[in-house]
Amino acid sequence: MKQRETWATRTGFILAAVGSAVGLGNIWRFPFVTGEGGGAAFLLVYLLFVALIGFPAILAEFVIGRKTELNPVGALMELGGTGWKYVGGIFILTGFVILSFYSVVAGWFTRYFLEGFRGSYGSLLAGYEGAAAEAGEPEAAIMFADLSTGLDAFVFHTLFMAVTIGVVALGIRRGIELAVKVMVPAIVLLLVGMAVWAFTLPDAGAGYAYYLSPEFSVVAENWTTLLPAAAGQAFFTLSLGMGVMITYASYLGEDRNLGRDGTAIIGFDTGIAFLTGLVVFPVFFAAGITEPGEGGAGAIFISMTEAFATISGGHLIGLLFFGTVMIAALSSAISLLEVVTAYVIDEKGIDRWKAALGMGSVIYVLGVPVTYDLIFLDLLDGFADGILLVFGALMLVLLVGWIAPAFAVQELEKGIGDLGSLGEAWLWAIRVPVLVVLVITLSLGVLEYVDFLTGPFADWIGENV
Ligand code: PFF
Repeated sequence: MKQRETWATRTGFILAAVGSAVGLGNIWRFPFVTGEGGGAAFLLVYLLFVALIGFPAILAEFVIGRKTELNPVGALMELGGTGWKYVGGIFILTGFVILSFYSVVAGWFTRYFLEGFRGSYGSLLAGYEGAAAEAGEPEAAIMFADLSTGLDAFVFHTLFMAVTIGVVALGIRRGIELAVKVMVPAIVLLLVGMAVWAFTLPDAGAGYAYYLSPEFSVVAENWTTLLPAAAGQAFFTLSLGMGVMITYASYLGEDRNLGRDGTAIIGFDTGIAFLTGLVVFPVFFAAGITEPGEGGAGAIFISMTEAFATISGGHLIGLLFFGTVMIAALSSAISLLEVVTAYVIDEKGIDRWKAALGMGSVIYVLGVPVTYDLIFLDLLDGFADGILLVFGALMLVLLVGWIAPAFAVQELEKGIGDLGSLGEAWLWAIRVPVLVVLVITLSLGVLEYVDFLTGPFADWIGENV
């Protein structure tokens, strides 16, 4: 058998995991979920979930991966028995579903980035003046409607997926590790630069106030939707619940301090989400957009293009902004495809490049309907994020906490040393509070998804089929 690949360096693993965690979840989703959820009040709930649920859960994925040195399907079978291959199968399915729509949305960012080379965002919007007047809608909304579906979206979905496949096909060291060593520092530098620039904007204060002053009443009134949204966002942003962290930890040859690595990864991810808010909200307010939470998937495109068209210096910052998101999305897409690819390599004995190309192509096809109508985005996103990831995390917690706990603390102690009662505390955190939150989140997520299927989706079917 060919020897399994490993990371070349310690930072390689951390950067790859950070690259996976930091993505559309931080930049595209985080601001509008936070805006809708009562600003800082939502942020607090979310941070609580990240620390109390995300941290124990990421450690669970790490120990599984490092112990077994296998892809998620093989790893679960080794620890839990053959029946667990079905759970592993769900992980692979989750990777398929998420990457399919993720690539379309990332394609939009790529398009908006490249559009910036054709002219300033103001001049691009001017091109939509006629259509906007006719429809009675803002130019930026017409532009988004134009670019987010149809041939444009299809072409950029294709392009983005092709690059993702290329990086994964090159392998762990030559592909993923090399790519993230450039991408992750670039994301951090660009965002810090943009946040400093945003600080100088007129009305930045109003943006910070909107972002950072908590409205607890919003959380209290809408907790049945906000709590699962905050928990779901915590899992999504940390790439938990489908085996990314299992897979990445499976390439760790040596015994390293997983507690420290987990803290670094979560710290980076949260820091970058927070930083994005410090860029996005001042920009919105400087452009006179005071209800940035509204508008769903297109919100950030519409508001940001409007803002970049109005603010001086907006052209350059717009380019940087869309470019940054594109890079962040790529480093996450790579991790999604890597899970699926590792499974095919390990379990089916297929070459890496064939596995990446084959699986990538199927995922690509699954994403195509999203370029036809955005209802498919809600269909896939709601299913993956509200149900599949939470279910996956629940299964992992059951496995590590209750079914095969014997190896877990021992594995965690490698590279750290004797954990004493902390090890037990970690296990009990997983066994009870994390499990309870997951069960509640899953139940609420299922209810919400059923509402979507019987409501908006059924209406869409009625109108279009
Ligand atoms: N964590 C990524 C983000 O925040 O955009 C998305 C993601 C990647 C989710 C990988 C799940 C995953 F397995």
